[in-house]
Amino acid sequence: MPIIMCSKPSPIIFAILFLALLCSGASTAAGCVEGERNALVDFKRGLLDHTGRLSSWTGSDCCNWQGVACSNRTGHVVRLDLRNPHPFSSRTDDQPYNEWSMGGELRPSLLGLKKLRHLDLSMNNFGGRPIPEFIGSIRNLRYLNLSQAGLGGLVPRQIGNLSSLQYLDLYNDLDYFSGRVPEFSIDDPLWISGLSSLQHLDMGGVKFGDTSSLVEYLNMLPHIVEVRLSYCEIQSIPLSLPHVNFTRLSTLDLSRNGINSPTIPSWLFNVSSLVHLDLSLNFFRGSIPADIQKLSSLEVLRLSSNLNLQGVIPKEVGNICKLHTLDLSYVNISRSLPELGDVFSGCIKTSLENLYLFETGLTGYLPDWLGDQLTSLKFLDLSSNNLSGGIPDTIGSLSSLEALHLSNNSLSGEIPSSLQGCTGLVILDLSQNKFTGKVPTWIGESCPSLRILRLRSNMFAGRIPQNLSRLIGLQIVDLAHNNLSGTIPKSFGRFAAMKVKKEDSEYVLQESTGVYVESMEVDMKGGALTYGDSNGILSLVTALDLSGNNLYGTIPREFGSLRGLMSLNLSGNHLNGEIPKEVGLMQSLESLDLSRNDLSGAIPSTMTYLTFLSYLNLSSNNLSGRIPSGNQLQTFSESTYTGNPGLCGFPVKQICENDDNSTGTRNNNTSEEDGDGLEAWLPYLGTVPGFPVGFWVFWGTLILKSNWKDAYIRYIDRQYDRIYVIVAITFNRFKNSYV
Ligand SMILES: *[C@@H]1O[C@H](CO)[C@@H](O)[C@H](O)[C@H]1NC(C)=O
Ligand SMILES: *[C@@H]1O[C@H](CO)[C@@H](O)[C@H](O)[C@H]1NC(C)=O
Ligand SMILES: *[C@@H]1O[C@H](CO)[C@@H](O)[C@H](O)[C@H]1NC(C)=O
Ligand SMILES: *[C@@H]1O[C@H](CO)[C@@H](O)[C@H](O)[C@H]1NC(C)=O
Ligand SMILES: *[C@@H]1O[C@H](CO)[C@@H](O)[C@H](O)[C@H]1NC(C)=O
Ligand SMILES: *[C@@H]1O[C@H](CO)[C@@H](O)[C@H](O)[C@H]1NC(C)=O
Ligand SMILES: *[C@@H]1O[C@H](CO)[C@@H](O)[C@H](O)[C@H]1NC(C)=O
Ligand SMILES: *[C@@H]1O[C@H](CO)[C@@H](O)[C@H](O)[C@H]1NC(C)=O
Ligand SMILES: *[C@@H]1O[C@H](CO)[C@@H](O)[C@H](O)[C@H]1NC(C)=O
Ligand SMILES: *[C@@H]1O[C@H](CO)[C@@H](O)[C@H](O)[C@H]1NC(C)=O
Ligand SMILES: *[C@@H]1O[C@H](CO)[C@@H](O)[C@H](O)[C@H]1NC(C)=O
Ligand SMILES: *[C@@H]1O[C@H](CO)[C@@H](O)[C@H](O)[C@H]1NC(C)=O
Repeated sequence: MPIIMCSKPSPIIFAILFLALLCSGASTAAGCVEGERNALVDFKRGLLDHTGRLSSWTGSDCCNWQGVACSNRTGHVVRLDLRNPHPFSSRTDDQPYNEWSMGGELRPSLLGLKKLRHLDLSMNNFGGRPIPEFIGSIRNLRYLNLSQAGLGGLVPRQIGNLSSLQYLDLYNDLDYFSGRVPEFSIDDPLWISGLSSLQHLDMGGVKFGDTSSLVEYLNMLPHIVEVRLSYCEIQSIPLSLPHVNFTRLSTLDLSRNGINSPTIPSWLFNVSSLVHLDLSLNFFRGSIPADIQKLSSLEVLRLSSNLNLQGVIPKEVGNICKLHTLDLSYVNISRSLPELGDVFSGCIKTSLENLYLFETGLTGYLPDWLGDQLTSLKFLDLSSNNLSGGIPDTIGSLSSLEALHLSNNSLSGEIPSSLQGCTGLVILDLSQNKFTGKVPTWIGESCPSLRILRLRSNMFAGRIPQNLSRLIGLQIVDLAHNNLSGTIPKSFGRFAAMKVKKEDSEYVLQESTGVYVESMEVDMKGGALTYGDSNGILSLVTALDLSGNNLYGTIPREFGSLRGLMSLNLSGNHLNGEIPKEVGLMQSLESLDLSRNDLSGAIPSTMTYLTFLSYLNLSSNNLSGRIPSGNQLQTFSESTYTGNPGLCGFPVKQICENDDNSTGTRNNNTSEEDGDGLEAWLPYLGTVPGFPVGFWVFWGTLILKSNWKDAYIRYIDRQYDRIYVIVAITFNRFKNSYV
């Protein structure tokens, strides 16, 4: 009995037809209950589907429609999954949604799906619309995911009627929506206690009006396993509970709330099922109680950024035998690191993989026990402390080590050759210390996985090793502000990771391995930018910084191969000769600093091909001739070129001698060569991307967010306060350590 819809059916007629169909019972045609098919057809009519994601929603067997699944036994629709399959595919869009986001209206015809158990509308754009109250009447619902769906406003308490619900995800990343969608709010969370089957709850970003009894309500849920309440403006949690009911709770995330509490509540230590506890970015005071050892299943403990927590780490922490991640960054520990040896001599010593002690006021030297005891260590961050002395040889026995962050201390001495034992190193950050000696040549051979090498602001001397470029994954090389001399190795044109253009990098990165990065800093665009992402790899940034050394000779033409390089800084050296015209091939360059060198000759006109360039500094050289015009070059101010008395033409004041003379003061040879070169390159360049001028000006800071659920990378520009979702990457490897 097919039903034919007029283009504008009267709602009443439609409702009658609709009810009639429902009453006609489960007449299954080709595996699909017809009444449910019609309910779906009507539901679809309410939706805006720009990319035709629902184009398969024709024909009689609705069980075969995209996103729809029926029970094999009864033929009823049990599952409706309209999650945006490509949430981050569009990069040019200045809003978080893309063409794959569905919008429109959520029609109550959904209630026709009487047996619906699974409803996923996540990652869409329903334009700030509230969650319809009727959702509370889909009685059989087990799974409801309205995360990042562009829904907002007051969450209807009718959801509390869903007594079969096991999964409820209302997580909204407010930055992601950059204020376009009102946040979810819940005045009185009492209704949550009605969700008697609930196992997994994520309300990250939901604003609660009254949280005084929230924990008590959660304590009434007998099956609860996972509670994520990050960034909910929860101001306090109870110091005591009459009875701790949580018998299965394994994940508790209360991070980023600013909870003000005189202690870490003792009842937490009765939740012996806890595996993952995150209390970071709050205001817990007092000390870490010895009772913490009662949490014997604990694998992840994050207490970072509780600035008033008394930093003494009790010895009992060392008795948590499954703990693999301990994050105490920004907790004022103020002790000598060697003294912490007794904490890390317990059974924790073999389980600990990730140790974050960033800016904790640690003093003293790097003790031998680091390498002797913490044999499973993968990630060690001791940055921004007050550590001195050298790197002990024992570090070399950490064969699983992937990231070593020691920046911003007062460490000295040479890089020990024992570090060659750390063959899995992906990140080596020794910047802002007092290290001396040479950049070891063995790095190019012994650290095949290295992606980030930061030796910035030390006292390294000698030449830059040629064979660094053998490291195919190297994407950030920062050797700035040392005392390096000699020429820039031509082999630097062979950094494989810098050759890949970022358009193609999504694929490449999915293929490669990642590493947990909290946050890094790179000097780009004339100022330090911090970038990082907490769940994935800091992956897209490619930078080469050799500034502030004693390098001489010419800029290697081979740099032209680095088509994926985003930032090149060679300023403050003694480089001479001309800027090679091959610079024009470095198509991903966003920041180029060649200032304070002895470069001469003309600025190659090929630089007009650098359409992403948003920072350029050529000042204080000996460049001459006409400044080429076109594309991004037009947008730079005079300061880009100051200190080059021979330059003429816009934007500098000096007028070129013969303004019709397009070759300026260049000599015959150069201009000819340039012309030929350009012609010859056009095929390589293909169509020069037509991005609007300044689009990539928004390239900016990628900030640290501790609750990002998806490993996507965002670029945030403080000046413009705009956010770009660049790419989504999922690194299951890191989920393990995070969930
Ligand atoms: C229903 O059938 C499909 C395809 O035959 C199968 O993949 C699925 O596991 C079945 N579901 C149940 C619950 O048996
Ligand atoms: C809900 O959807 C989001 C995004 O699609 C996903 O990341 C999240 O894991 C889902 N939540 C649950 C509980 O499955
Ligand atoms: C659903 O919840 C609301 C408010 O919580 C209540 O008034 C209503 O009776 C409930 N409906 C059903 C069908 O249980
Ligand atoms: C513990 O959970 C049960 C339901 O499983 C509930 O009846 C009881 O009130 C809860 N106790 C507290 C103190 O919340
Ligand atoms: C916590 O557990 C201890 C026993 O280990 C028990 O005496 C105490 O009453 C429990 N506290 C709560 C709040 O359940
Ligand atoms: C850290 O704690 C010590 C006392 O343990 C105190 O002297 C110091 O001022 C604190 N530092 C900060 C930054 O709060
Ligand atoms: C270096 O560490 C000190 C604390 O020891 C901190 O105040 C400062 O901000 C850090 N500097 C950088 C650049 O991280
Ligand atoms: C760092 O340690 C040195 C002694 O090793 C001390 O003089 C200095 O004050 C300390 N700095 C800070 C910021 O604690
Ligand atoms: C790397 O360079 C050093 C010195 O330049 C040299 O001794 C070593 O053999 C080189 N290694 C390889 C594999 O080329
Ligand atoms: C830098 O290295 C040169 C030799 O290459 C040496 O003469 C000079 O003293 C060094 N400067 C510093 C600050 O170490
Ligand atoms: C460019 O200038 C040179 C010398 O300044 C001159 O010989 C030449 O004729 C000029 N070319 C044009 C096209 O004006
Ligand atoms: C260019 O080169 C030709 C021959 O090589 C020469 O005759 C001419 O004077 C040169 N022009 C300039 C402006 O140098």
